[in-house]
Amino acid sequence: MREEGKDHEETDQDFDHKRTCTEWEAILPTLPKQRGWMTNHLVQYQGVWLSPSGLKGVMLARDHFKSLPTDILLSTSPKAGTTWFKALLFTIMNRRNYPFSSHPLLTTNPHDLVHFIEVMIDQTPSSNPIKNSFSSPRLLSTHIPYSLLPNSVKTSCCRIVNVCRDPKDALISQWQYFNKLRPKEMPPFPLEDAFELFCDGVSHFGPLWDHALGYYRASQESPEKVLVLTYEAMKMDPTVNIKRLADFIGHPLDPEEESGEVLERMVSLCSFENMSSLEVNKSGVQQFTAQFKVPNSNFFRKGQTGDWRNHLTPTMLESLNKISKERFSGSDLEFLYG
Ligand code: A3P
Repeated sequence: MREEGKDHEETDQDFDHKRTCTEWEAILPTLPKQRGWMTNHLVQYQGVWLSPSGLKGVMLARDHFKSLPTDILLSTSPKAGTTWFKALLFTIMNRRNYPFSSHPLLTTNPHDLVHFIEVMIDQTPSSNPIKNSFSSPRLLSTHIPYSLLPNSVKTSCCRIVNVCRDPKDALISQWQYFNKLRPKEMPPFPLEDAFELFCDGVSHFGPLWDHALGYYRASQESPEKVLVLTYEAMKMDPTVNIKRLADFIGHPLDPEEESGEVLERMVSLCSFENMSSLEVNKSGVQQFTAQFKVPNSNFFRKGQTGDWRNHLTPTMLESLNKISKERFSGSDLEFLYG
């Protein structure tokens, strides 16, 4: 009897999953379209630009993801420092479980330790969709903007860490990243084209400014639930910001950990220099969807702030700063365009 019940439950879940996929297939042709960065086009869904398969993940997460009150969710727009913050959060949460000399991050890419909910939910529809065998509470991540987050995330007591990055560096990082992933049959993607699309808000999970502001406003309303950090701040002062992260997610460092080697070792384990030199991050691939796979090495490029100086013309700089100034005006995010 028990087995029958279980089968019945799984069939229902499969059916629900299919229903969302059918809705996705039906809605796709009706959505506004623009040129894609890596796919032929991006579609606009409720104000957000997504690849067609990205939209499927968003809709599946909306309908089927169940947040737990103990979840820690890392939210980022692409190239804001997702890989780095996955490593940092994983290290903070598991610092008493593993010695630094045989830490999982030495042999495992951060994306294999902390999964995107919108990717996982598409990969394993009928079983427990989100597992994280390394930690409890669950550490998860997402690129989904606040406005499209599953309701259960918004209403549960889970905590959200959002990471923002200077739009100028985010643009350059996205352009370089998607250029490497563009199929050979697609025409080259000059910076001028990426710039124009980015400024129009047409970037994966964009507009970037809306992504940042959505989480920023949520953090103003519920500071105990949403913490906004920046790539730049973590780069400038990792020890202070790791302590902030640890406090926020309920894993505060004790005085011995702060004054001893632990904090320092966490910083250096997750540093760009260390992570980009590890064999696992030089080889291996992330298979996010059937069509979308990314070599691990693509997640590590320069790992610096201010690389935009090597790419943007004075005119591009002026226009991008103007947009950021207008969009972030009145918020604490204003400094990001400085
Ligand atoms: P750059 O292209 O500017 O070098 P994401 O992880 O969201 O895809 O973001 C990738 C960006 O973060 C890339 O930026 C990458 O080099 C940088 N990055 C990756 N690991 C990092 C680390 N450990 N410390 C600092 N930056 C890192």
